[in-house]
Amino acid sequence: MGAVALLLPLLLPLLLPRTARGAAVCGSCPGPPRNGSIVSRFCESRGDTENDGRCCRERGAPPGRLLGLDLSNCSLHSVPPELAEATAAIVLDLTENPLTSLPNGSFLGFTHLQLLAVPAALECPGGSDAWQDVTVDGSIRQCRGQKNPCNGSAELAWPCPENSACAPDGPGLVQCLCDSPFHGYKCLREGTFPVLLFSGILGTATVSLSLLLWGTQRRKAKTP
Ligand SMILES: *[C@@H]1O[C@H](CO)[C@@H](O)[C@H](O)[C@H]1NC(C)=O
Ligand SMILES: *[C@@H]1O[C@H](CO)[C@@H](O)[C@H](O)[C@H]1NC(C)=O
Ligand SMILES: *[C@@H]1O[C@H](CO)[C@@H](O)[C@H](O)[C@H]1NC(C)=O
Ligand SMILES: *[C@@H]1O[C@H](CO)[C@@H](O)[C@H](O)[C@H]1NC(C)=O
Repeated sequence: MGAVALLLPLLLPLLLPRTARGAAVCGSCPGPPRNGSIVSRFCESRGDTENDGRCCRERGAPPGRLLGLDLSNCSLHSVPPELAEATAAIVLDLTENPLTSLPNGSFLGFTHLQLLAVPAALECPGGSDAWQDVTVDGSIRQCRGQKNPCNGSAELAWPCPENSACAPDGPGLVQCLCDSPFHGYKCLREGTFPVLLFSGILGTATVSLSLLLWGTQRRKAKTP
């Protein structure tokens, strides 16, 4: 029992569903998505969503996929680090905030983002070239439709090493994915990485250790 009690706090974070831990950004600002915002309109138009703080998700338990995030009018001076939890978002609103910049890496992994609203003073992340359509209306700049930076001339400016292929990784951002069976630094290693073998050894070691500890603790408990 002692061993189990010892291991439980270590294992608990692994057992919790990822989505349940990813909700911090939704509560980083009070209230639901603002009435009439691009996020509210998008989510209402889908009809299969529910609000979770400033987020809207696909309906259903466990927490469904995050589709929209409205961080407008939240007194944000900089992009909050929790934004990284919202990489699945399709619609994102950052307007009505005293933001002064959007650091380059802020939207890394936001490959589904199709509509982003930012204060008009800021550029769309990745620049106008990263989007199909950029419009400014009053204090709001809307960036619509991410372009695939791997498609066309941009790829020439961002060559992936041999044995790898370019893949989008957010507005104006790319990643180079190794072609199978290459892996490792610059995709120079060949052969499949033995993930199963590795986790198998780790798992066996953990279980053996637990059993060992459990056994010794039990014996101790039995002897008066
Ligand atoms: C949002 O707007 C709609 C119509 O514009 C209105 O019926 C509704 O009561 C509003 N909701 C809130 C919470 O203000
Ligand atoms: C922003 O929030 C404040 C207080 O929460 C409210 O008074 C104001 O009307 C909001 N502004 C917009 C543009 O919604
Ligand atoms: C962000 O990216 C742009 C264009 O790639 C570059 O000119 C700029 O220096 C970068 N800014 C930072 C802070 O890395
Ligand atoms: C690249 O862009 C062209 C024109 O915009 C489009 O027709 C084509 O399907 C795109 N290819 C890929 C792989 O996205």
